[in-house]
Amino acid sequence: MRSQVERVLQVAVRDRDDITVHPQICDLHQLIREAVDHMCLPDCESEAQIQLDFQAKSSELKVDPMHFSNIIHNLLDNAKKYSTSPPVITISTHIKQNKFLIDIEDNGIGISSDAQKHIFDKFYRVPTGNLHNVRGFGLGLNYVKKMVEEHGGTISLKSELGKGSSFRLQFPVES
Ligand SMILES: Nc1ncnc2c1ncn2[C@@H]1O[C@H](COP(=O)(O)OP(=O)(O)OP(=O)(O)O)[C@@H](O)[C@H]1O
Ligand SMILES: [Mg+2]
Repeated sequence: MRSQVERVLQVAVRDRDDITVHPQICDLHQLIREAVDHMCLPDCESEAQIQLDFQAKSSELKVDPMHFSNIIHNLLDNAKKYSTSPPVITISTHIKQNKFLIDIEDNGIGISSDAQKHIFDKFYRVPTGNLHNVRGFGLGLNYVKKMVEEHGGTISLKSELGKGSSFRLQFPVES
């Protein structure tokens, strides 16, 4: 899985404007469950606790399943990586005002308001903290934002240093 994401990211760097999305009707709850299952392998117990709180009554939406899965995977990967304590991650969904909302909340190290301004920039990684022996390219969130927007959606972040982070994705629901 990791290598698949890396491949996608490398393609994203090389042919930045060439990523085409092929949306088709998908069950988002199922895609999220599958991403969580992939994430958990091989030993979920010791790694992270991931809680699902699916409130959206209907979860069928037109998305590109590969890119949507990569979006979720990148956010889960971060939630796990940027944590000192055993990660507890909650993924919840809601439908509000014709938007499908996905919240991914973690209890990790959090992101300062200064760093939040740059978090979606290409190659940006928060410069301080001993967690940066954690490897990464600083590309995940740049890819995530680009792909969410490619689907007509938005991404926003609420976080405080030391108090975890919560990323919100909003996708338009066709009516
Ligand atoms: N959930 C989070 N909690 C705390 N910090 C985060 C979180 N998600 C991202 N960050 C910070 O934002 C930076 C950018 O994240 P991004 O996913 O773009 O890159 P990365 O994880 O460093 O590398 P990769 O390209 O492998 O994803 C990270 O280096 C980290 O400093
Ligand atoms: Mg990342």
